[in-house]
Amino acid sequence: MLLNISTLYYNATMKKVKNTLFSNKPVTIDENSLIMALESSCDETACAIVKGGREVLANVVASQIKTHEKYGGVIPEIAAREHLEAVNVVVDETFKQAGVRPQDITAFAGTVGPGLVGCLLVGLNATKALALAYDKPFIGINHLNAHICANFIDTALEPPFIALLVSGGHTQIIDVKSYSELEIIGETIDDAVGEAYDKVARLIGLPYPGGPKLDKMAQEGNSHAFKLPEANVGGYDFSFSGLKTAVLRLVKSFDGQELPVKDICASFQECVSETLYKKVKKAAEERGYKQVVLAGGVAANSEIRRKVFSLKELGYDVYAPQMKYCTDNASMVASCAFFFDKSFDNIDTEVFSRAKEG
Ligand code: KG4
Ligand code: ZN
Repeated sequence: MLLNISTLYYNATMKKVKNTLFSNKPVTIDENSLIMALESSCDETACAIVKGGREVLANVVASQIKTHEKYGGVIPEIAAREHLEAVNVVVDETFKQAGVRPQDITAFAGTVGPGLVGCLLVGLNATKALALAYDKPFIGINHLNAHICANFIDTALEPPFIALLVSGGHTQIIDVKSYSELEIIGETIDDAVGEAYDKVARLIGLPYPGGPKLDKMAQEGNSHAFKLPEANVGGYDFSFSGLKTAVLRLVKSFDGQELPVKDICASFQECVSETLYKKVKKAAEERGYKQVVLAGGVAANSEIRRKVFSLKELGYDVYAPQMKYCTDNASMVASCAFFFDKSFDNIDTEVFSRAKEG
């Protein structure tokens, strides 16, 4: 069963007009609902089928790391083309692994932003095609909210909670008051945590993708070898560009001599994780919540996980996604459609690149 998504989309759109929903059939989302989701905001083409928001029936991810490795970062145009090549196969494999048919799906969900526009368009149009062809609702999903929802998979987590979202493009503290009320109470004023990891990794000569490699090196280094500056930003906001500059200065001070790479990594990781820990602890204390949730690709980081989980000793319930649901995947998108955004979207829903446009 190889779904030819572009043909489905073309045929189906011929019957539809702007400002209309994908299907007029009455549909309710409940614990038995099967949501299929697609994620293509950056360099992973991912598809998943999730039952009742928490039970993953299939989670397929095609990573483009090999392609972008030689450029030292993601090249948007190449990434979009790779999504195009992968999407049919990934969708097909997901249905095969889940053992369900497209007509069994309750609703189709797709990431609409923030992300790389060309990449998002591929996933979005494929999702729309499936919704149209099978006469089912379509739900457009915000990628950042989806990262938070990775924490609902295989758990019994319910709001309210404080979420620390740390990804390649974003660093935020979010007060999740209910499934429908999210308040961003803090964010970075410059670099995101993942971005800082990737930039520092490049500075000290680690290959792309730098974050996980830096983490690995840090585990073998002395975290007190170098004292790096923690930014003094008010409230729940963050700043990481000063730290990045401090690492650059430190690297230059070795003046061509062999760098103590492991110690630099460990000292950098200590500084970042300490800042994140202090801010999320402050937010949980001041908002009076008992639950703290870690989310985003950087939630896979060993030391950030360890520090945030140490809040358990202070009486907090702490959640972080399983490793495979930390970095970009579509299970979190399906879960988000179930918990945060059940509303059905129109046929002319568009993608957006930056968080504030959403
Ligand atoms: O959430 P994500 O998959 O993509 C975005 O939405 O941005 O996050 C990717 C980011 C990259 O910057 C990557 O270097 C970082 O997460 N990352 C890590 C680790 N694993 C992934 N950073 C530090 N330590 C890790 N173990
Ligand atoms: Zn992401």
